[in-house]
Amino acid sequence: MQKIKFRFNESHVDSFNTPGVLNLMFLDLTNQCNLRCLYCFNQHLLDLSPSHMEIALLEKILQSKVTRKAKNWFFSGGEPLRYRYLDEALRLFQKFGHHPKLATNGIELKPDVLDKWVELGVQSVQFSLDTLNPSVFAELNKGTGKNHRAILENLKYAVKSPLRVVVSSVLTKANAKEISDIMRFCCDAGIDSYTLYPNVPAAKIHTDLIVPLAQMPDVIDGLIKDYQEICSTRVIDMSIPCIQFSDVYAKWKDKVAIRLHACGAGQYNLKITSEGKVSTCICQDAPEFIVGDLRLQDIDEVWDSVENRDFRSLYRKIPECRVCPIQAECRGGCRNEAYVLGRNGILSLDPHCEFFKSSAYRKEGRNV
Ligand SMILES: C[S@@+](CC[C@H](N)C(=O)[O-])C[C@H]1O[C@@H](n2cnc3c(N)ncnc32)[C@H](O)[C@@H]1O
Ligand code: SF4
Ligand code: SF4
Repeated sequence: MQKIKFRFNESHVDSFNTPGVLNLMFLDLTNQCNLRCLYCFNQHLLDLSPSHMEIALLEKILQSKVTRKAKNWFFSGGEPLRYRYLDEALRLFQKFGHHPKLATNGIELKPDVLDKWVELGVQSVQFSLDTLNPSVFAELNKGTGKNHRAILENLKYAVKSPLRVVVSSVLTKANAKEISDIMRFCCDAGIDSYTLYPNVPAAKIHTDLIVPLAQMPDVIDGLIKDYQEICSTRVIDMSIPCIQFSDVYAKWKDKVAIRLHACGAGQYNLKITSEGKVSTCICQDAPEFIVGDLRLQDIDEVWDSVENRDFRSLYRKIPECRVCPIQAECRGGCRNEAYVLGRNGILSLDPHCEFFKSSAYRKEGRNV
């Protein structure tokens, strides 16, 4: 998954992870959700019959050897607040000494719920907020004006709580012009950091919403410019390693600390679906990304499986990556983006890389 994280609080940055050491678990607790965001990578699951991760499955995950040292637990979905056993799950994590992070659309994260999360040892909450405009929200996220007001109110309360609060947006054509305003709003509101996810769907659905690659350098350039004007922290964690081939990176790298990370899929992260399937990638449940099934195996077995090891070294089979000077640090970019938008399935070159490296981009700059 690609991310650009603008830090407002300098003590909140991503650690650099070691490939082969599991440190980040994404748990899709349920397929239930009260929104229908057009870009959602899990939208094919939302209208299936309700699925809620069994507590016994969570216990099995927590008891395994390989997860005991994992520091980052990310509750996702679907909407975690629609997960039938959420309180029980939080108590279980507290018993195991873990402090999970939750991603939510924020509609139902009322003050009493948030207070309970604080008591149950939640470390941070990530509100998804794609727009400040209720009519864009109605179009892009399929929510009401009342939902939108609830998110903003709940966010205001969360900022005053001891939790670390992050806001994230998915960059689409519908909100591209607003991203700077959202970032500014977050900085003014006292949010710890603002994350932008370039839209990468899980299949060729609503691809018309994707901001064309040719516009990405300008979008990133504009955002970094605004960010360093509004906030003196000047630290960005970015998981688009091939950006180092671009003019926009050359322009900003000495003015802002841009910390480049490779994608962690199968390298140090795994995602578990609400039904127990193990995927290397947070955005995917296609067979190419599935490396195990916790109804039949335990996570120690899956982590060391041939399937997971093969996935980790996939980038060595991509012709362009094989001869790339930064292949060891990039490891093939975003496999989901390559799989959905590339020409050769899971073994495609990541389109971002193709773009940043293309001589056309270098010769014609931003007019491609
Ligand atoms: C699938 S949602 C589940 C949790 C919760 N319902 C929410 O929206 O925060 C988890 C995160 O994935 C992001 N996301 C969903 N679809 C995406 C896509 N196509 N590209 C990038 N990020 C996406 C969401 O914005 C959210 O931050
Ligand atoms: S709120 Fe989250 S899970 Fe629900 S549709 Fe939007 S991105 Fe998907
Ligand atoms: S060629 Fe492959 S390894 Fe090199 S930057 Fe591009 S995606 Fe990453």
